[in-house]
Parts: sequence; structure tokens; C-alpha cells
Amino acid sequence: MVLSKKYIDVTWDFAAADTKEYTHCYHNYPAMMIPQIARRLIDRYSKKAETLFDPYCGTGTSLVEANLKGINAFGTDLNPMARLIAEAKTTLIELQILDLYLKEFNDFLFSLMFNINKPNIIAPNFNNIDFWFKEEVKEKLAIIKSFISNIKDEKIKKFFLVAFSETVRECSLTRNSEFKLYRISEKQREKFDPDVYVMINSKLARNRKGLKEYIEQKKNNSKTVIYDFDSSEHIGKIEKESIDIVVTSPPYGDSRTTVAYGQFSRLSNQWLDVEDASQIDNQLMGGKSKTIKKTGISIIDKTIEKIAVKDEKRAKEVYGFFDDYNRSIANVSEIIKKKGYACYVVGNRRVKDTTLPTDEITKNLFQEYGFIHKNTFIRNIPNKRMPSKNSPTNKTGQKSTTMNNEYIVIMQKQ
Ligand SMILES: C[S@@+](CC[C@H](N)C(=O)[O-])C[C@H]1O[C@@H](n2cnc3c(N)ncnc32)[C@H](O)[C@@H]1O
Repeated sequence: MVLSKKYIDVTWDFAAADTKEYTHCYHNYPAMMIPQIARRLIDRYSKKAETLFDPYCGTGTSLVEANLKGINAFGTDLNPMARLIAEAKTTLIELQILDLYLKEFNDFLFSLMFNINKPNIIAPNFNNIDFWFKEEVKEKLAIIKSFISNIKDEKIKKFFLVAFSETVRECSLTRNSEFKLYRISEKQREKFDPDVYVMINSKLARNRKGLKEYIEQKKNNSKTVIYDFDSSEHIGKIEKESIDIVVTSPPYGDSRTTVAYGQFSRLSNQWLDVEDASQIDNQLMGGKSKTIKKTGISIIDKTIEKIAVKDEKRAKEVYGFFDDYNRSIANVSEIIKKKGYACYVVGNRRVKDTTLPTDEITKNLFQEYGFIHKNTFIRNIPNKRMPSKNSPTNKTGQKSTTMNNEYIVIMQKQ
């Protein structure tokens, strides 16, 4: 009897797991990977691994897990805020030194209460800042930013910036339950009075606790390097056949119709002085629709044809995404060692009532580039921060249930 290699396995759900252990608690981000998934993939497929790569590393979940196991990690992401978080999460800081800065920060805030040392601060002036921040909040954020800008130690600075970034989002006038930027109602705005200093301090305390756990657990010298290259375009400085395992969760689709990573991060990126913060979503995978061409991968071509019959424009957008995805997988394939693994956690979203079989597409693409399929585990998504409904027809109000499952596709290079 031949057993199917693709099956539902609820042990991958990790429904009751604490997903905020160690530095995983640092900062929220859309569609974060569950650390327990990365952990189990690393345990199973990279017993003697020395190197892990994540081509869409986001906030660095798989990089943290690699480092905990003594594996050197490499990641890339086009979103500067995600890179900042990933860097901070994989950086060890001596707690004694951190505590000195935390105390200095508290003294600084305390002195402000009595108007001592009130710095002469100029708030940033990016487009629409007053639309998203109340005057008093803006002033307090600018004061905190000026304190952080004066920190010379880069590691400590990043630790503070991560807490600052999450504070920016939470004390802005955006609806916090949404990934896209929508302003809260006028009535809510009137009542909205966040305590900015309390907010950042509680994040700093939470993250310090996570850092302490991380330091206690990581008893090795493994390192992380984070790049900013587009993984669909090239593979940066990473050498061919140098990586033992890839553990990643690619975007489910283009940012416009699935998860808007750039929009989620825009206010933080603007406060962090990132240029063109409003353009990030267009640069991510599937950010541009393209003229449809045959790929020669029948499962992609058939899927695009099905959508094109209903809506040519949507078909071009979906094609744009899978064209980028194909080029990214070609690049990733080159840097994996022979017998090394590619572990992709993907979702099969629906567009125009057609399910996009991204798990099968992932499998077929890797097979094109010399990999064999080992397994696909199907899991429920109990705790990933994802919209479980979307508008597959793209008509407002027409919602249907979408990604309640994820597919963990395991491929091995021959
Ligand atoms: C599902 S998220 C990854 C989340 C990550 N696993 C975590 O736990 O935080 C996908 C990421 O891919 C990034 N991304 C999209 N297109 C990219 C590209 N062409 N090159 C590099 N990163 C890209 C997005 O910015 C986003 O952070």
C-alpha cells in the first residue's frame, strides 16, 4: 500500500502553544510563523545543519529558532520594519547594560513630568502625520525618538526602536484590528487618549523578559545576517549550495488583495525615517500585475486560465505573483546544498471562486529545480494573525471563508 505524502496532521496546529516565548514576544506582525513549526522543522530535517535561510524572513521567527539550535541564520526581507525586528530578536544584549539604559530612560521620562530637561523637539513632518496622530501623542513620540537617537550602542538602540515601533502603531488613530490603515471613527478619536510613556515602558519590560529567556536558552555562538534583497530578483551574497535548510512562510499573495505588510508597517517606517514607506507593498512579491505568458508549469498555467475566463485583470495580478514566486524558488534552489531541505509553509487562497493550489505549485516548482517531494502536512490555523475571510470576488461585502488551513511543503534537493 502506498501511503499518501500529503495529509492532515493536527499535531502541526499547536493550538495551545505559547507563541510568544523568548524574543518572539518583541513585536506583532501580520501572518507571523508559529515558532513551534519552525522548531519542529529544524529538529526533523536539519539534525546536523550549520546554516538556515529564510527568503521572506519577516520578523525572523525561523532565524531565532535556528540560532537557538546553534545554526547560523540568513534572512532577507524588503520591509525595513520587519528587518529591524528580526535583527533585534536575534541580537544578544548584556542585561546589565540594557538595565542602565532602561533606568536612564525612566529618569528621563520622570524629569519630563516636572518639566525639567524638557527637550526642544521637532516632530517629524511626513505626509498625513496629523491625520494619524493626535498632537499630544505626536509630541511624546518625538520626545521618545530623540532619546533613542542619542543612544550610541547600536544593539541597545534597536532594542528600543522595536518597542517604539509597536508603540507608534498602537497609539496612532488606525484601527488596530486591521492590517490596512483605516482611521477610527470621530467618536472613537475624541475618546482616544493613549498613555504613550506607559505603553512603551510595558513593551520594554515585556521584551526584556523575552530577551532574558532567550539569553538563558541560547548557549551557543550562532549568528544571524539579515539582508534587504528581493528574493525574486537575486540571492545577494549567499553562496551557491551553502545552505542546509530553508524554513519560510511566503506571502499568500500580493499585498493589495491579501496581507498588506507595507501598509501595516507604514506609520512605524515613517517614524523610523524610511524613505518611500508608502511604496513597500508595490515592491513585494506580486506587487505588479504582468502580461500573462505560459510558464510551462501546467498547474500554474491552468490556474491562470481559469481566472482569466472570469476576470483578465485579476488573472494578470495572480500571474504576476506566481511569476515572482517562480523566480524566487529558482534562486532559493541554487543556494541549497545537495540533500538539503526546503520547507515552505503556504496558504491556498481563493480568487474569483478558484482555489489557488499554492502548495502544489510550490511542489511542482521545486521539482523543476531538482528537488523531490517528501511530504505535505496540512494544518489548521488556530492562532496565526490572519484574516480568515477575504473578498475573493473583490466585491465589497462578498466574503467567503478562505485560508483556514496551511500546507507545510517539504522538498529535498537531489
Ligand atoms: C508571511 S510574512 C513572513 C513572516 C515571518 N515568517 C515571521 O514570522 O515574521 C512574508 C514576508 O515576505 C516579505 N516579502 C514579500 N515579498 C518579498 C520579496 N520579493 N523579497 C523579500 N521579502 C519579501 C514581506 O515583507 C513579509 O515580511
